[in-house]
Amino acid sequence: MPRPSSRISGIVPSGKDGWEVHSAAWARKEAGEDIIMLSVGDHDFDTPSETIEACVTAVRASNHHYTPLPGVPRLRKAMAAASSACTGVETTPEQVIATQGGQAALYAAVQAVLDQGDHAIVVAPYYATYPNTFSAAGAIFTVVETPAEGGFQPDAEMIRAALKPNTRAILINTPNNPTGAVYSRERLEQLADICKEHDLWLLSDEVYWTLGGGEHISPRSLPGMAERTLVINSMSKSHGMTGWRMGWLTGPEDMISLLINLNLVTTYGLPAFISIACAEALENRYGVKDIAERYAARRTVLLDAVRGMNNVSVRGSEGGMYVMLDISDVEPDDEKFAFAFLDKENVGVMPGSSFGEAAAGHIRISLCQPEPVLREAAARLRRFVSSYRREAA
Ligand SMILES: Cc1ncc(COP(=O)(O)O)c(C=O)c1O
Repeated sequence: MPRPSSRISGIVPSGKDGWEVHSAAWARKEAGEDIIMLSVGDHDFDTPSETIEACVTAVRASNHHYTPLPGVPRLRKAMAAASSACTGVETTPEQVIATQGGQAALYAAVQAVLDQGDHAIVVAPYYATYPNTFSAAGAIFTVVETPAEGGFQPDAEMIRAALKPNTRAILINTPNNPTGAVYSRERLEQLADICKEHDLWLLSDEVYWTLGGGEHISPRSLPGMAERTLVINSMSKSHGMTGWRMGWLTGPEDMISLLINLNLVTTYGLPAFISIACAEALENRYGVKDIAERYAARRTVLLDAVRGMNNVSVRGSEGGMYVMLDISDVEPDDEKFAFAFLDKENVGVMPGSSFGEAAAGHIRISLCQPEPVLREAAARLRRFVSSYRREAA
């Protein structure tokens, strides 16, 4: 075939991608082995039945046609109301644009604020697609780790030290995947100060905002930040709708108007019946409370089972769909630990180093399994950790 563009080839550079343990676990499960998969971040339950019914009704009601580029009006209105609740800033429909999932909102945000060669700061540990999303825009970025000892909270001085003359944006994610850290108001205020001092955009990924345990604090609500913050939201986590591919971006109206042109050349509008089902799900908060309670209960079950385990400590793990365990006193090489845990106990977890330096020496455990499975996995971890130490001795 003729040569592909360097743009498309550059999105995912070849080589090790950090998913090796997950792939090995998945291959063994596919081959029929009884593997507990705690490496993925997708719900183990279906979309709430009310949302499914709303979609069936909508598809039967002739919603089969093109839709407005930024989203159908009812959907935009519902998303704006959800953004008002998420960010604490009264939001109009003109300040939101519907996208194909949170990932497309992230893509839109990066495309919107960075030119080829511009620089961004990405606060780590981070969600796996972040580097590729910057590569797709031809932008460069510096990873600034959040220290594990500080519960994976962002450190303003470390971020300041990474600023360059061509820095245009900082990307953060709270509640965080993979660490489960929920950034404190104080740390967010410090980030906001940096953005205002250096005239930067803050890209704030808040797709886990309903799974945070306590009050959700969005940096968009801080003084002077609404005009320079783009918030990434999604139906995937909060409403149990990963496969429906619906998300949205919230920001200043002028920026959202420009972004409608991105939908013109990519999606040309989202599916009509899915848009209506999503609007109804947002208006009625279908499943939101139940899903949040389910993950909170699972987090408690897992953390209770893990606390007191010799040489294993909990870091972050306040919100989102994951728990982060420091296993470095057992085995400093987290990938070796994860492979050995899979081999011995048939449990697949993610090595922390897959998500950046700061999470090295940790494992990320997904809460996307029922409580009894999590209890069983914790029991296996306890057994594994104690025998691992004996072998090492
Ligand atoms: C932090 C974070 N942001 C964004 C996404 C994208 O989610 P989606 O495209 O399903 O909305 C995910 C998915 O796991 C995530 O963990």
